[in-house]
Amino acid sequence: MKTLIQHGFIITAGESYYADLRIDDGTITLIGKDLPAGSADEIIDASGLYIMPGGIDPHTHLEMPFGGTVSSDDFFTGQRAAAFGGTTFHIDFSLQSKGNTLLNGIKTWKQKAADKACIDYGFHIAVTDPSDKTIEEIPLLLEEGVSSLKLFMAYKNVYQVDDTGFLKVMDKAKSQGMLTLVHAENGDAISYLTERLMSEGKTGMKYHSIAHSAAVESEATNRAVSFCDVTGAPLYIVHISAEGAVKALREGRRKGLPVMGETCTQYMFCTEDDIARGGFEGAKYICSPPPKTETDKAAVWEAVCDGTLQTIATDHCPFWFEGGKNGRPAGKELGKGNWSKVPNGMPGIEDRFPVVWHHGVNSGKISPERFVEIISTNPARIFGLYPQKGSISIGADADLVLFDPNQKHVISAGTHHMNVDYNIYEEMEVTGWPKRVMVRGRTLVMDDVWLGEAGYGKFVERNAGTVI
Ligand code: URP
Ligand code: ZN
Ligand code: ZN
Repeated sequence: MKTLIQHGFIITAGESYYADLRIDDGTITLIGKDLPAGSADEIIDASGLYIMPGGIDPHTHLEMPFGGTVSSDDFFTGQRAAAFGGTTFHIDFSLQSKGNTLLNGIKTWKQKAADKACIDYGFHIAVTDPSDKTIEEIPLLLEEGVSSLKLFMAYKNVYQVDDTGFLKVMDKAKSQGMLTLVHAENGDAISYLTERLMSEGKTGMKYHSIAHSAAVESEATNRAVSFCDVTGAPLYIVHISAEGAVKALREGRRKGLPVMGETCTQYMFCTEDDIARGGFEGAKYICSPPPKTETDKAAVWEAVCDGTLQTIATDHCPFWFEGGKNGRPAGKELGKGNWSKVPNGMPGIEDRFPVVWHHGVNSGKISPERFVEIISTNPARIFGLYPQKGSISIGADADLVLFDPNQKHVISAGTHHMNVDYNIYEEMEVTGWPKRVMVRGRTLVMDDVWLGEAGYGKFVERNAGTVI
């Protein structure tokens, strides 16, 4: 299949320019002015549209067993929703189950995705049992196409690892050229504070924010950055929400440590006031770490703009607000009357690209090139996908968003494609919307119509990435 895209305005992380694009069997083969139609099977007129590399979301949890239930998007519904919103690749977290091997965790997640996938994807592996046997397995991961491991400093007695385990994994990962990711919140402090709040009868949703305070995140982030210093191993801190955590990252980078950081869209728009909304409404915003104050939100924005943070992900981990009926798995209602039982996580895989464009680029906070860098190119570089993904260059996969910068769209759970009954950006109007979304040259979404299919998406083996 040969496709010619004419008259588009190409935006990459490095530059922007008018050019035509030629795609042969899913790969970009020519970029230039006034390319001849030649033997093209399909000619697309992209006049008035921006052409960007498809979004890459490096942090998602599809079909994840968590908090006594399972996240509500599977690999088909979640990936389809991603495509509608301009995201053409994501990296999901496979999990080591207690007593099982890492390879087993990856195999389980590969099986979940294989027949359902409609966009391309990769996996990290979360190490929950850093025993000597597990550490010995780490060199085998690259053969599975997995080049990054995640550790949790939180979720005591579930996923949390101790500092020794953390250091051992970092050292081993470094020796293999692999990247360690960390969820930095102090799980012991959370557990202690949770018990204390419960004994005081403080069960309302707003107390989630007290147990998961900024200090709890900042302490763990400072510790994680110190471990980066101790081992010299590259480290990527996921879902940063607190000003103190941003400062720790900035200071680590200033010292020249190989530490990188991610925030998520929700920390740029939500605050603790959302969790404190009346009744049970606040449960919609319960995730870990939770959104914090206006000051923290401003610090996150500043770090996005000044380059302290390298990526914006979603941590997409949706749970039904009203689950446990009509064939839905249990959801947020598990925590009615007790915040500590609310499954942690928020939806967002579909919203990130247009929401960040609207509030970042249209407002003048970031340039279009910085947008591409943080939404697509940096995740590709860091996670060993570049330039196959995250770029518009000869030889790259034609994962493209043809974006109409003038199209307005009102975000709503009534029209979104995520398998969840609420949207944290409900009624937000954005200007700029994906008109056409392509993965390896095939159009999956056109004018909000779904043209993709389950089984088209491919697992992509990742190489060692780059510290940026
Ligand atoms: O609340 C969250 N973030 N849920 C997903 C799991 C995690 O910690 O990333
Ligand atoms: Zn996490
Ligand atoms: Zn997560």
